Amino acid sequence: MKIARRMENLQPYLFVEINKKIAEKRAKGEEVINFAVGDPDIPTPPHIIAGLCQAAQDTANHRYPESAGLPELRRAMADWYKKRFDVTLDPATEVLPLIGSKEGIGHIAFCFIDPGDVALVPDPGYPVYAFGTEMAGGRPYYLPLKEENGFLPDFRGIKDFILEKTRLLWINYPNNPTGAVAGIDFFNQVVDFAKKCNILVCHDGPYTEVAYDGYQPMSFLQAEGAKDVGIEFHSLSKSYNMTGWRIGMAVGNATAINALKTFKSNIDSGIPQAIQQMAIYALNGSQACIGEHNAVYQRRRDLICEVLTNIGLQVTVPKASLYLWAKVPEGYNSVDFTAELLDQMGIVVTAGAGFGRGGEGYVRLSLTIPDVSLVKGLSRLSGWRNTRRLVVKR
Ligand SMILES: Cc1ncc(COP(=O)(O)O)c(C=O)c1O
Repeated sequence: MKIARRMENLQPYLFVEINKKIAEKRAKGEEVINFAVGDPDIPTPPHIIAGLCQAAQDTANHRYPESAGLPELRRAMADWYKKRFDVTLDPATEVLPLIGSKEGIGHIAFCFIDPGDVALVPDPGYPVYAFGTEMAGGRPYYLPLKEENGFLPDFRGIKDFILEKTRLLWINYPNNPTGAVAGIDFFNQVVDFAKKCNILVCHDGPYTEVAYDGYQPMSFLQAEGAKDVGIEFHSLSKSYNMTGWRIGMAVGNATAINALKTFKSNIDSGIPQAIQQMAIYALNGSQACIGEHNAVYQRRRDLICEVLTNIGLQVTVPKASLYLWAKVPEGYNSVDFTAELLDQMGIVVTAGAGFGRGGEGYVRLSLTIPDVSLVKGLSRLSGWRNTRRLVVKR
């Protein structure tokens, strides 16, 4: 048996490794507190589950779904965009339901990247942008996200010979892993840049509904002309605690949506129809759960920030997203620090380096940790002492 060349250097997905380490510790009877994965701990709201249960009884939903999604679902997605962002979408041509947004993010490169083409990818960034590009035979060109620029990419330094091969630009705000947000000025700049260079913009926005202190993140499609050059990936995963049900969407430019739809129609058979109907309940129903979840995350955000600051870690309080992006203490890199927290305290955080070279020097902590574990984890963290610094000082 010979595995394909494209698989040769492929590492397991970041959290597969982390989960393996957690399982090893737990197997030894150790209690591990997990701040690593951004997977909402609060269950899917009951009214959405009730919608699923009802839909599951309907035998029409026991058969193959249409891969383009139910027309009623595409309509609900378009209506939600109108209500939330005042963005108008044609449900027939500008909306495509996905089996979770990760699936569409991984597949879009196959529609726009030929071997040797380039995709501009944020560093640090969600690993799937680079993975999809490489699987399609392209090359990621990394755009550093630097703290001094508010973790926004700077397009000015990209050489012409790179731009000539560039077909796609990835952006993601509210950002994973940095928690940074972007406003209309940045999105307008992205539209200008994409028009000038004739590239497709893919804005990944699963965290637009996870925000604090009254802040309301924007959709990229609110920028003038955004639909001419781009699409947005959105998800029900984080807005409605639906990571387990796998449903998201791509919306925007009709040519790009049609390309992805055609690609997908050849490799998947759509989202289970009862889950599509569940999503309609989520999008059309009361949105009060979003504010309730955000209040929980905001309280956790403040508690964790306080403890991190007390033990000497620098962290910017995020306005949105599920993540805290903290600088590792002097004398450590992100992998060392992560290993020390796991070995000495049974605490799992994600090493910044896992999100690319630009993530070195940071660790990511997620707010999706149940309150009981949070209290234990914070009490352990409060006792952390920078042993290396003490050693150096002696
Ligand atoms: C930036 C970003 N994009 C996309 C996703 C995928 O979300 P889903 O596939 O659950 O819609 C995630 C999940 O953590 C994410 O952090």
